[in-house]
Amino acid sequence: MRILFVTSEAFPLIKTGGLADVSGSLPAALQNIDVDVRILVPGYPAVLNKLINPRFLTTISNLPNVGAVNLVLGEMPETKVPVIAIESAGLYQRDGGPYVDATGKDWEDNPTRFGILSLVAAILSDDKSPLSDWVPDITHCNDWQTGLTPAFMHFMSARRTQMKQAKSVLSIHNLAFQGCYGPEWVGRLGLPAESYQINGVEYYGQLSFLKAGIFYADGLSTVSPSYAKEIQTEAYGFGMQGLLTSRGKEINGILNGLDTDEWNPATDPYLVEHYDANNLDGKKAVKAALQSNLGLKVEAKTPLLGVVSRLTHQKGLDMLLSSAETLINQHDCQLVVLGSGDKNMEQGYRDLAKRFPKQISVTIGYNEELSHQIMAGCDIFIMPSRFEPCGLNQMYGLRYGTPPVVNNTGGLADSVQDTNEINFKNNTATGFVMQNAEPKALISAIERALGYYQDEKAWKIIQENGMRQNLDWTKSASAYLAMYQGLLEK
Ligand code: ADP
Ligand code: GLC
Repeated sequence: MRILFVTSEAFPLIKTGGLADVSGSLPAALQNIDVDVRILVPGYPAVLNKLINPRFLTTISNLPNVGAVNLVLGEMPETKVPVIAIESAGLYQRDGGPYVDATGKDWEDNPTRFGILSLVAAILSDDKSPLSDWVPDITHCNDWQTGLTPAFMHFMSARRTQMKQAKSVLSIHNLAFQGCYGPEWVGRLGLPAESYQINGVEYYGQLSFLKAGIFYADGLSTVSPSYAKEIQTEAYGFGMQGLLTSRGKEINGILNGLDTDEWNPATDPYLVEHYDANNLDGKKAVKAALQSNLGLKVEAKTPLLGVVSRLTHQKGLDMLLSSAETLINQHDCQLVVLGSGDKNMEQGYRDLAKRFPKQISVTIGYNEELSHQIMAGCDIFIMPSRFEPCGLNQMYGLRYGTPPVVNNTGGLADSVQDTNEINFKNNTATGFVMQNAEPKALISAIERALGYYQDEKAWKIIQENGMRQNLDWTKSASAYLAMYQGLLEK
């Protein structure tokens, strides 16, 4: 089976969040079960620099707003999964992030940048493709940036008879980002005028990339079973619950797996010492190094709470900001935060660290190395998200013996087992689940965690329960394969 995996970011080429982790590791897991998969990604400077053995593949001409782009074929650094990068000086060769400029503002030409990514994916999806020796069976799109692909594919096949075309799948990693632009973009991107209607790409007076994908894709999935249900409700549907409910039975909820080589406390190159579920001793040295590097008091027994996150409303870290002082004053604990996002929240955390320099360390920015050190060096990982399609950090926490405190939602609810009496007795307790997204509930869940932390033996059991879980892609990659097969048999 051939899969074209279309994405706007893929680790280790380019990453802003969990989508990159999934786009790096799911295709590799599919390759391990003999799926012939290629990743299609924009050729940002980092992508073209890191691609192994890049070679010119073909040119695609007559594209709206850009004319021609080149396709470059290379491989992923470790996994050797083939990658097709779209090379376009005008669209992708610039400093700044994949979506925003250096000041954090969305690139104005994002509709063209991701419209072209979507269109190129569609062009590669049938037997008229310039790569006619490699036509996919499934074109697997991810999030709004690739949402127009199923729409383009739909209209291409409507124009031609007797064509062999891939089936399209859209995976929703986050419904909050919908790629909405003015209706003028319908024509500018070469979509037919008739696509602009309720039964099409129109969404509250705009063109929505994500809605287009949800409407036209042959298959739909999202990244956890709970989120698959939640997005069909008003509270979590971000306005798309009606459409999602109409396709409800078709939405596959498949929990993300982890790249267990990249995230492995027994081999992690960023750690001063290594450890595993059989011997956690090395974790103490990692904690001491983290405390010392960040200017915190180096104290083995003081519980160290950790955060690595986008600082946005979704992640609920405003609740931690407003609770941190209470926690620090009432409990002898420390806090390490790494993240960026909302400017007010960034400032709030900076101010907090200034007031408690020996207890709180805040790093604003993106730092791969520090993120691993926090996962390993902290005692408790904090992730009180208001909604969380899947979430990877809580699972990294489980794997690194850093039990997570999470809200009861989406993938957090699906991956963390609360430490209550029954779960503890059954050796299934892996973390601490808040009952709702409120500061009080967060404080109380953290206090429960701190209570268990004082009992060394009990704490070790919770750590080991998490560390012994199989969090790799094996099960979920098979679930994707089953979904692909189901679509091809339809
Ligand atoms: P989301 O994709 O919604 O941000 P996930 O938990 O799925 O959330 O994935 C976030 C990923 O991004 C994780 O791999 C996490 O380690 C990483 N990450 C988030 N913020 C930072 C940061 N400031 N520095 C380094 N890595 C980060
Ligand atoms: C999104 C979601 C996150 C998920 C990630 C990868 O960024 O916010 O919950 O883990 O995608 O699927």
